[in-house]
Amino acid sequence: MSNRAAISVILPTYNESGNIALLIDRLKTVLKSIPHEIIVVDDNSPDRTWEIVEKISEKNPWVRVIRRIEDRGLSSAVLTGMAVANGEVFAVMDADLQHDESILPEMFRAIHDDRMDICIGSRGIEGGSYGNWSATRRFMSWVAAFMAKVMLPVNVKDPMSGFFVISRETYQKSADKINPRGFKILLEFIGRSRGLAIKEIGYTFKNRIHGETKLSSSVIKNYLIALWDLRFGKYVTPTFLMYCLVGASGVLVYSLVLAACRVLVLQDFFSGLLLRMDPNSFSMLAAVETSIISNYFLNNYFTFYERRHSGKKKIAGFVKFQLVSLLGLIVQIGVFQMLQANGFLIGILSEGFRNIFNNALGIVVATVSNYYLNLNFTWRKN
Ligand code: GDD
Ligand code: MN
Repeated sequence: MSNRAAISVILPTYNESGNIALLIDRLKTVLKSIPHEIIVVDDNSPDRTWEIVEKISEKNPWVRVIRRIEDRGLSSAVLTGMAVANGEVFAVMDADLQHDESILPEMFRAIHDDRMDICIGSRGIEGGSYGNWSATRRFMSWVAAFMAKVMLPVNVKDPMSGFFVISRETYQKSADKINPRGFKILLEFIGRSRGLAIKEIGYTFKNRIHGETKLSSSVIKNYLIALWDLRFGKYVTPTFLMYCLVGASGVLVYSLVLAACRVLVLQDFFSGLLLRMDPNSFSMLAAVETSIISNYFLNNYFTFYERRHSGKKKIAGFVKFQLVSLLGLIVQIGVFQMLQANGFLIGILSEGFRNIFNNALGIVVATVSNYYLNLNFTWRKN
């Protein structure tokens, strides 16, 4: 027990060669009266951040570096660091000097002395600030924090903070439930357990001087997905929700194309001239096909973004999606006809409502079965 660190500081890094040495130096000063270790988790940065830390650790054995070759990502890097940390308390902070290390001792005491579970370095409370953020950025951050407050059981002013201290017990209680994808690791810890004692300590978020941010793209989308997953994930996965939204947009596309065909009298022209087809059937076919095409692209872009088809793979992907969609149509009509033929709900609903209801049931069954087919066939992993 004696050479156990009181606090393990975990620093995830990706291309922080301009910042890491200075930060380690500052941590040494600010933590001089607290037994500590520093664990840098670097994802094989092209700028060789890991090499700088290896050099430092030769003379400073309380500094360690983990150079990850296979894995990537901020949250998973933090979890990797926590898994090998031997401190009684873990601190997580960005390695780009944007977080203010001078409040670390106070954060540590909140856990060690005051028995808090988590202490957050917060930009959202008294004494904290976002620095010189634009009004738009501050507003977005406020909306995000508000949503977290509404959806999760705790009242935290800065739930998106990447700067926090957590007790080893709290980590151990939820470690196996944490989603390693994404970068909202604090949100995960807060959202996956109940009744946590949380304290926030204000600090001013500084501007980045060296290197650049890695988290700018699709931050909002990832945040919303993470929130949904934390709150409703055990009932409806974010992927299925997205799939249903795309499906709903498909209904809209279908109706618009159908209306357009009728209004523009296209159906008479094409069906008569080219296809010798009944005009109404022609319009329906055109509308169904357009909505299948738009659903494919939307699903490929949003719903299954992690397995997205690109380049030529889109052709094979679309063919599969088309097949699944046709099958879905058969399932939908099949279920409807079966219910109608068996007299389902006769005498309970009027003929009109019975029609609508049984049709809706067909759509539900087809949506669910199509979802699994698309998940495991069209967008099957690798
Ligand atoms: N190992 C590893 N792997 N580290 C990473 C990765 C990764 O894939 N991506 C980013 N990092 C490291 C960076 O090197 C930095 O030390 C820290 O994680 C934060 O990354 P930034 O790219 O500087 O993030 P940011 O400043 O835009 O976002 C920060 O503020 C957000 C809220 O405003 C982070 O603290 C976020 O967690 C936070 O939500
Ligand atoms: Mn940063």
